[in-house]
Amino acid sequence: MKFFIDTANLDQIREAQALGVLDGVTTNPSLMAKEGITGEKNIIQHYVDICNIVDGDVSAEVISVDFDGMVREGKALAALHPQIVVKIPMIEEGIKALKYFSDEGIKTNCTLIFSTGQALLAAKAGATYMSPFIGRLDDISTDGLNLIQEIREIYDNYGFETQILAASVRHTMHVIECAKIGADVMTGPLSSIKGLLNHPLTDIGLAKFLEDYSKGNQ
Ligand code: G3P
Repeated sequence: MKFFIDTANLDQIREAQALGVLDGVTTNPSLMAKEGITGEKNIIQHYVDICNIVDGDVSAEVISVDFDGMVREGKALAALHPQIVVKIPMIEEGIKALKYFSDEGIKTNCTLIFSTGQALLAAKAGATYMSPFIGRLDDISTDGLNLIQEIREIYDNYGFETQILAASVRHTMHVIECAKIGADVMTGPLSSIKGLLNHPLTDIGLAKFLEDYSKGNQ
């Protein structure tokens, strides 16, 4: 399973990259705004800065909601850096844009997926990645992980190559359950990645090893 970090915070991206287990980054306009990155020029520069930190795919989202606008924006984003993946919303014009970019050999990430029908359309349109938002489904008392499971089954039935990018991951159990189901990628906050490290028996065991080592060297 690939690990992406879902943030526009450069320090957190650097920290995840330094761990050596990071495969990419996802961002969205809300995450950019959270870091105070506003205005087209600054946003574009921020994407380039992110690409210069990580080795893997970096999703950059279009703002247009019409086909021509998405194509224009997506082409400009893709030209910024070879690691850029054009993020397209799951709307009718977005499906057309996904197909266009797929035919052009430009990588895409179809965002704002909340149903199996949308997942099927994203795969038919040739999306490289598609992002079901599991945390936001959980927020409205709908089982987000169940959606991942159903999409996995549908994609496996037909051998769709579109990668399931579990998004809106909030915590470590989401990561583990996504791995059990067979999501291709998960994207979450740094805490959902670093949280996987934690176990009290590891801390107790290490303290004991260090204590016994120092006894032997006294
Ligand atoms: O990757 C999608 C993500 O940015 C949404 O996460 O936590 O705002 O639901 P969240």
